[in-house]
Amino acid sequence: MQYFVQAFGAKEPYPDKYDLLMDIATEEFSHLEIVGATIQMLLSGVNGKLKDAADESEIMKIMGGKASKENVIHEAMANPHFLIESGGGPMVTDSRGIPWSGTYVNANGDLSVDLRSNMGAESRAKIVYEYLMKFTDDAYVKDTLRFLMTREIAHFQMFDAALQTIAPNFPPGVLQGDPRHSNTYFNMSNGQDVRGPWNDGISSELNEVWQYIDDPIAHVKATNGLVDQEIEGTERTESKVREMNETLSKERSQEIISASPAGEKQWSSYDASLSNKAPGSDDNITGRPRKNSPDASTRKVSKRSKI
Ligand SMILES: [Fe+2]
Repeated sequence: MQYFVQAFGAKEPYPDKYDLLMDIATEEFSHLEIVGATIQMLLSGVNGKLKDAADESEIMKIMGGKASKENVIHEAMANPHFLIESGGGPMVTDSRGIPWSGTYVNANGDLSVDLRSNMGAESRAKIVYEYLMKFTDDAYVKDTLRFLMTREIAHFQMFDAALQTIAPNFPPGVLQGDPRHSNTYFNMSNGQDVRGPWNDGISSELNEVWQYIDDPIAHVKATNGLVDQEIEGTERTESKVREMNETLSKERSQEIISASPAGEKQWSSYDASLSNKAPGSDDNITGRPRKNSPDASTRKVSKRSKI
């Protein structure tokens, strides 16, 4: 759902990313189908037990219905919401019964943000599938989970590769950071102080030299609460930042404005020559380019726009 929502904002200015986001979103929906189908196969018969209303009667208990009923009660105790409300069908909740919510969708209208967010989502999904595999001995369920886990690995790389096509892609958005504060590391703890590439040497994205503030209290006093902090370890200056802000603002704004057609707009387009074909005729009525069709590659975007 997240990739689906993100795709809308990308459609006009970045049709390549729209295609990527819609393709992966659609694949993710197929994963919902796989998960739903797996749950149903594992729970086959549960709804039948609930439907067995006569199981309530004393005679059913005597005749052997009791064990079956107690089994259902046990399942209801373990996860009451699931049996009471869904009758055994899949529910759009997490493992604690908390309903799925739109707040889980992160779409910030900046592809460098959205794609990074998606890499985080794919990482979390990957590790959850990995954990889930430890909860089952069923070889087929393990296989299913392994497939889903593997697709998250593939998706991560797709989003990463898409992010690398955006230049510059760091920092996210347009405005550059204050060069006085972009490379300072505050040693805020007592005890073992560890130095690593996160506070020593060159920073990974801006290529600035990390400034290690060993005694933050003394530093804050000496710099008037960081107000008088000097620029160190970087060639970026306030005027360079202003220049970069202006250049990038114009560039990004222009990308979107020039991609937005003036006048009437239509979200989807339809090829009239492909409609109203008689069933069974040899004509391609799907609107999809045929394999080896000379225009197969150029038609891809218009195929997607039919959603
Ligand atoms: Fe995924």
